[in-house]
Amino acid sequence: MKKRIGILTSGGDCPGLNCVIRAAVSHATRTFNWQVVGIPYATQGLLERKTVPLSIHGWDLRGIDPLLNMGGTILGSINKGDTLAHADEILAGYEAIALDALIIVGGDGSLEIIHQLAVLGHWNLIAIPKTIDHDVAFTEHSIGFDTAVNTIVDAINRLIFTAASHDRVMIIEVMGRNAGHLALHSGIAGGADVILIPEVPYTIQGICNHLTELREQWQKKFAIIVVAEGISVCTEDANNPSTCTTAKCGQGQYIAEKIANCSHHLIDTRVSVLGHIQRGGIPSALDRLTATMFGKVAIDLIAQNQYDQMLAWQNGKVVTFPIQDVIDKNPSLVDPQGDLVQTARSLGIYIGE
Ligand code: F6P
Repeated sequence: MKKRIGILTSGGDCPGLNCVIRAAVSHATRTFNWQVVGIPYATQGLLERKTVPLSIHGWDLRGIDPLLNMGGTILGSINKGDTLAHADEILAGYEAIALDALIIVGGDGSLEIIHQLAVLGHWNLIAIPKTIDHDVAFTEHSIGFDTAVNTIVDAINRLIFTAASHDRVMIIEVMGRNAGHLALHSGIAGGADVILIPEVPYTIQGICNHLTELREQWQKKFAIIVVAEGISVCTEDANNPSTCTTAKCGQGQYIAEKIANCSHHLIDTRVSVLGHIQRGGIPSALDRLTATMFGKVAIDLIAQNQYDQMLAWQNGKVVTFPIQDVIDKNPSLVDPQGDLVQTARSLGIYIGE
């Protein structure tokens, strides 16, 4: 039976989303001769009953297929709004669009909301994890994370030389919400001296002692500090937890000011907030590969009428988990006792207490 499949991208964009669309459309049309439509702006498109026809023909620019290396999402996305307040209209919109199944490419927030809608509306849903934060449970790769890590490492590669030339401490604030995966992976891969993540408590004294040791014992006068945006900062007294908050804003600047104070302004600091640069750019080879496999397997699952599953990457393979199990386990944070944290410590990186 010829099926009509919908696909939408939801939450913050990231490189690799278009690769999923490309793979799903290619497999659905070439292998099964099904029709695939895109839903623009995620649930907003469902609410407005909008679809975009997707075809393997029509993307070519003189034979070039732009979707493979194009960042962002051609379908558009939303990462805010009170979606469930409009549940009835969205459910009616879904009915009107008349889909046999829906593929959602989203992070933990989108997964939860769209799963609730799918239960209410008895949708045939398949979920694919994407997030630069890497905080979706059960999957070793989430689309966008590898590219973001590479973008941060590229920034560190550049900052190291200017830091060394001026004997400065360069502080790089990175995204990740409440998870420290981005900071930890990029900090180790980029050769950081200090990595601060929400999952491991740090002290200003610990950071300052480490910088002093680097200077006095190892004659290393510059340093690279990677700060996750989700770390807690203390507005008044760093020893009084009641004045500490994880409110997102200016974490890198806070650490810079504390280092200036504890070094009596002898250490010169500069702060780079990478911001949405981490969400841009062309997808890495790993993100393209993961996205392509996920897109293909999503179509295979629909062919087998297996729904309510999220795809995950484990041990070099695409596997599936019930979406509810994933939601129950989210968010997936850094294990403070895990191998990566221990590896960072073994390299002499200060990563908290
Ligand atoms: O979840 C992805 C993410 O990029 C986070 O790392 C970051 O905190 C947030 O989205 C930024 O959201 P916005 O694009 O709304 O500023």
